[in-house]
Amino acid sequence: MNRIVIAMCIVFWASCGAKKTENQVVDKKLNPNGDSELAVVMRIMHEHAKQLKEEILAGKSVTPYPEEIKTINTAEPTPGMIGNKEVFVGFAGLYLSKLDSIYLADVNQKLQYNHMVNSCVDCHQVHCQGPLAAIRKLYIPNN
Ligand code: HEC
Repeated sequence: MNRIVIAMCIVFWASCGAKKTENQVVDKKLNPNGDSELAVVMRIMHEHAKQLKEEILAGKSVTPYPEEIKTINTAEPTPGMIGNKEVFVGFAGLYLSKLDSIYLADVNQKLQYNHMVNSCVDCHQVHCQGPLAAIRKLYIPNN
């Protein structure tokens, strides 16, 4: 339970709204339904990536990804968050193909997983830099 609360705090802290005033952040916590569809999809993607990391590190089979992730291109973003939709769609396609690659037979899952995290970082460097630190924590270290 505590872990969930901490995870939620990190996600709120990491959201793109670096310019938000304190009041708006409080409003957001009181009314989570006020978030954009895309922000909700992103949280699902983030939670799923954390789950994949744990499974791959534990040598377990990987859980299929939630269907919501496929709505990345149609989910409504926070106004002004996506400057160029074509660029966004390009990055989204890259992410989805890297995600699919994790599930192919006979791949190095650790490597494919880290490629997927790269694709999160690539899009975020262009569109929304707030969560980058949290996203980089998803990498599986090479050792
Ligand atoms: C195609 C571009 C793109 C890709 C790929 C992408 N993101 Fe995002 N992400 C965004 C945009 C744009 C937002 C802002 C959404 C909004 O506020 O509507 C966002 C928001 C977020 C947020 C903040 C959500 C919130 O609560 O406001 C997190 C966390 C996040 N992304 C994590 C990830 C992770 C983890 C991955 C990879 C598994 C990923 N993103 C891949 C573009 C992307």
